[in-house]
Amino acid sequence: MEILGIDIGGTGIKGAIVNVETGDLVSERHRIPTPLGAKPKDVATEVAKMVEHFNWKGKVGCGFPTIVSNGKARSFGNIDKSWVGVQIDELFSEKTGLEFFVANDADAAGLAEIKLGEGKGVPGVVIMITIGTGLGSGVFVDGTLVPNVELGTVPYKDYERFEFYASDAARKREDLSYRKWGKRFKKFLRFTETTFSPDLIILGGGASKKTEKFKEALEIDTPVKSAKYENNAGIIGAAMTAVQ
Ligand code: BGC
Repeated sequence: MEILGIDIGGTGIKGAIVNVETGDLVSERHRIPTPLGAKPKDVATEVAKMVEHFNWKGKVGCGFPTIVSNGKARSFGNIDKSWVGVQIDELFSEKTGLEFFVANDADAAGLAEIKLGEGKGVPGVVIMITIGTGLGSGVFVDGTLVPNVELGTVPYKDYERFEFYASDAARKREDLSYRKWGKRFKKFLRFTETTFSPDLIILGGGASKKTEKFKEALEIDTPVKSAKYENNAGIIGAAMTAVQ
């Protein structure tokens, strides 16, 4: 079955048509920059452009960078504050006339890895961490999602959220070398490890392609792997959300 998967992030909106049984992208990947300020109306307009780009008429699965319960945003993450309380699936459905299924972006990326990637068949606690504008987390216990675990939003030192200290956006904002940033990211991994004693941590998001640049950060007690689907895990998992 083919589904349009859309991964909405703080910086980019990425989409592709996905074969949800195999995890293969059956179209090229298309990226649209997230509109400045990322207000609901503007994001909905770009989502409609994505649908149009693929001339898509079927179901759409969508990963979204906030806490999401039953299609509704319950936080604002790194996008506009006015998202809180918005019924995201309805907003996008009204704009496009298509049926939308929405989940937290890191939960979606984790789903792809748990069903088809590095987390497949791994018993116990598996945690997907996405490194991007924010730090996303998806927690699975014996393959079942514990939704909306938000490790990146926990305060750290003088930082209001850990992600303001150790995300890829923090690295760029503070112009840190990968070595320096890696030391920060390792603290986040250690925090994750202490909190959950996971059996496996999987890294996704843009930085998951560059782990050789911060490999010392990955030397913790828990095994750490790069996502099989790298940055596409978010798109693939988004599509899978529509058939869960
Ligand atoms: C949000 C999370 C999201 C993460 C990655 C954070 O700011 O709170 O819900 O998963 O960014 O996009």
